[in-house]
Amino acid sequence: MSEDLFAIEGLRIVITGGASGIGLGAARELLQRGATVELWDARDERLERAGAGDLVSWRDRVTMRRVDVADARAVEQAAHETLAAGPVDVLINCAGISSFRRPVLEIPLDDWERMLGVNLMGTLHTCRAFGAAMIGRGSGSIVNVSSVDAVDPSPGILHYAVSKAAVAMLTTGLAREWAKTGVRVNAVGPGPISTPMTEPILEKTPGLRERWEAAIPLGWIGTPRDLAGIFVYLASPASAWVTGRSFYIDGGWLL
Ligand SMILES: NC(=O)c1ccc[n+]([C@@H]2O[C@H](COP(=O)([O-])OP(=O)(O)OC[C@H]3O[C@@H](n4cnc5c(N)ncnc54)[C@H](O)[C@@H]3O)[C@@H](O)[C@H]2O)c1
Repeated sequence: MSEDLFAIEGLRIVITGGASGIGLGAARELLQRGATVELWDARDERLERAGAGDLVSWRDRVTMRRVDVADARAVEQAAHETLAAGPVDVLINCAGISSFRRPVLEIPLDDWERMLGVNLMGTLHTCRAFGAAMIGRGSGSIVNVSSVDAVDPSPGILHYAVSKAAVAMLTTGLAREWAKTGVRVNAVGPGPISTPMTEPILEKTPGLRERWEAAIPLGWIGTPRDLAGIFVYLASPASAWVTGRSFYIDGGWLL
């Protein structure tokens, strides 16, 4: 019998921003398939809520760590502790922030710095910390979460779109530089997904839900479960010949 191409049982996977939304959805699917998962998140209450929810059924394979990925030293320290417990096979960088819509000239410079600090630099920090260890072992898969905004910027959140375009470029560059080391680097660029990030924006912006639904050819706003399969694919041997790609999973948004 041939090996299961999608086998991820026994892999150790770190998911940043893993206590909510897309990261938590990915965690559930990966745990379901036998992986061991460490969730990183900046927010204690989200980690506690995630830990107290349905993840308890996998409590022997799931751990949590409070880390602000924008803080380079904190990431280094946390990665050191995580790696001391054993090698990490897969890193999924979901930690990110978005923003309410505003014309570009009304976006304060501090908001630009925070956006780039979390979405771009936070991704860079974990890629550096875990990438070095993966290169040392000669294998690993890194999955960065960008967005359709990386190539099709939504009005009013140019700082977000720029941060996600930078994540896509970081992915391409790292993939090229690390390909010979056995470390693969890819990106997942979701279209609109219903999560604690987007629900408040949808509630406060009249007509936005209808505009999104109309702009998605498949007709519905996605859920974290609609993205779970691409994370399994990129963690598994099925994607062994894949690096440097951005996968836009978007219900057809970019069509
Ligand atoms: N929801 C969407 O429509 C959508 C679309 C495209 C891309 N994305 C991206 O997907 C990723 C996950 O988004 P989501 O919708 O699940 O949002 P979410 O808010 O539900 O989850 C993001 C998590 O990241 C954590 N986080 C934020 N800043 C952090 C930091 N500095 N350090 C560590 N953790 C931090 C948050 O506490 C939160 O738990 C983000 O990068 C987001 O930009 C989301």
